[in-house]
Amino acid sequence: LDRIVIAIDGPSGSGKSTVSRRVAARLGLGYLDTGATYRAVAWAALDRGLDLEDGAALTALATSAVIEQSPDPTQDSVRIDGADVTQAIREQRISAVVSKVAGNLDVRKELVRRQQEVAARGRVVIEGRDITTVVAPDAPVRILLTADERARLERRARELHGTTDDAAIAATHDSIVRRDADDSKVASFLTAAEGVVEVDTSALGLDEVVAEVLRVVAERV
Ligand code: C5P
Repeated sequence: LDRIVIAIDGPSGSGKSTVSRRVAARLGLGYLDTGATYRAVAWAALDRGLDLEDGAALTALATSAVIEQSPDPTQDSVRIDGADVTQAIREQRISAVVSKVAGNLDVRKELVRRQQEVAARGRVVIEGRDITTVVAPDAPVRILLTADERARLERRARELHGTTDDAAIAATHDSIVRRDADDSKVASFLTAAEGVVEVDTSALGLDEVVAEVLRVVAERV
């Protein structure tokens, strides 16, 4: 298990962050939430009043930014250029614009390079949209977590609004359906690439998904 990398991708609301953290904790591995990296850059872009259409400015920001994320799966801590953005990057105003930042191919190139440095050190669960295909295509364990749209909407609505009534589902639509449509233009996470194990979580509880992922890991290492 010395250099092991576990790569996990999935659409929003697939439960990949929670599952990845649990799996990392169970196996004593580090954890990297790559979505938080893109969110931190989006936060800094808004903070500095950058025009999100200005690709050169976004790229300069991503290249110079010092982003610090706790590798401990039981902690949540994200800083960019010293500012603690752990909570702020989860706000809807960030979810609304992050795909624009992540759609910039030069920004992606820089962040992927950093993520690959983490992967090269090993002993880590890395989670995102392009980990199984771009960041760590050679990882010994590669998993795509999927769930049908209704299940993903309900999970996120419960998380954000504490209920799954019609208003909550409607309010969640942008952060799930629109975002996946935008994100899938630059990363392929809607179907499993060759050699990637797909786990459909629609009908599974969190403990069941974690158990299934641990089973896949045990099979491969
Ligand atoms: O996982 P999360 O929903 O926090 O990701 C936030 C955003 O970061 C995604 O909507 C996507 O635009 C971007 N992202 C990405 N590639 C990754 C991880 C996230 O483009 N590997």
